Amino acid sequence: MSLKGPRWYTALKQAAQNPNSSLFQLATIDEAGNPHVRSLIHRAFLVPPSCPALPLLVTSTDIRTPKIQQIAHADTVELAWWINATSDQFRISGPARIFAAPEHTISPPVRDAPDCAGIKALEASGIDWETKRRELFDAVSEQMRATWCRPTPGTPLKGGYEEMNDWPVEVPKPSDAKTEKEKELAELALSNYAIIVIEPLNVDWVQIAIKPNRRTFFTREGVHWKEEVVVP
Ligand SMILES: Cc1cc2nc3c(=O)[nH]c(=O)nc-3n(C[C@H](O)[C@H](O)[C@H](O)COP(=O)(O)O)c2cc1C
Repeated sequence: MSLKGPRWYTALKQAAQNPNSSLFQLATIDEAGNPHVRSLIHRAFLVPPSCPALPLLVTSTDIRTPKIQQIAHADTVELAWWINATSDQFRISGPARIFAAPEHTISPPVRDAPDCAGIKALEASGIDWETKRRELFDAVSEQMRATWCRPTPGTPLKGGYEEMNDWPVEVPKPSDAKTEKEKELAELALSNYAIIVIEPLNVDWVQIAIKPNRRTFFTREGVHWKEEVVVP
């Protein structure tokens, strides 16, 4: 096992620490073969202790959104992450896995080892995905948690904008819920909350701040990364 993290990860981790740099765009493909892209907030990097060469990216979503079905159908995703502060673009692709509340049945991942070697290495190190999901859920704001108590995203707002006045604005984490209503809302939000774990296999890093610009392809081969300098 390689004990060194890939160069793209060192650069991305540092760049992502800049304020307002947590947003990337994630592309998926639906069953008809049509692409879909949307903005998501980066929530965490996960690095298997036994294998730092296989870092993973974590974002979160509502289990009821179409991207969940799209990833279940075609689990290879690509994200584009522009870091304005450093003028770097990272395009990262690889399989994605969904970790949802135990009551939700998610289709088993289409891909298995060796492509998900990072996820497997984390599991071998003892990660419990439900514990991780709850930990990330507890870390978000009360306003954010309230969004997972709304009706299904993308469905018609039959009562118009006024209907939104009835929606909860703040929802505590389950351990902070005091009233029965708060407990019910916290459990509903937790039930609709899912994390998406992306396992990078290919990374295309473009550095615009350097003149002439630089571009490097990184390809994962086993637990090593092949680097190729290419024309920007
Ligand atoms: C700045 C910004 C941040 C967003 N962050 C998230 C996020 O972290 N998770 C999420 O599910 N949706 C997020 N959204 C909403 C998504 O872009 C998208 O509209 C929603 O998830 C529905 O996607 P889908 O219908 O393709 O599944 C964000 C939107 C914006 C504008």
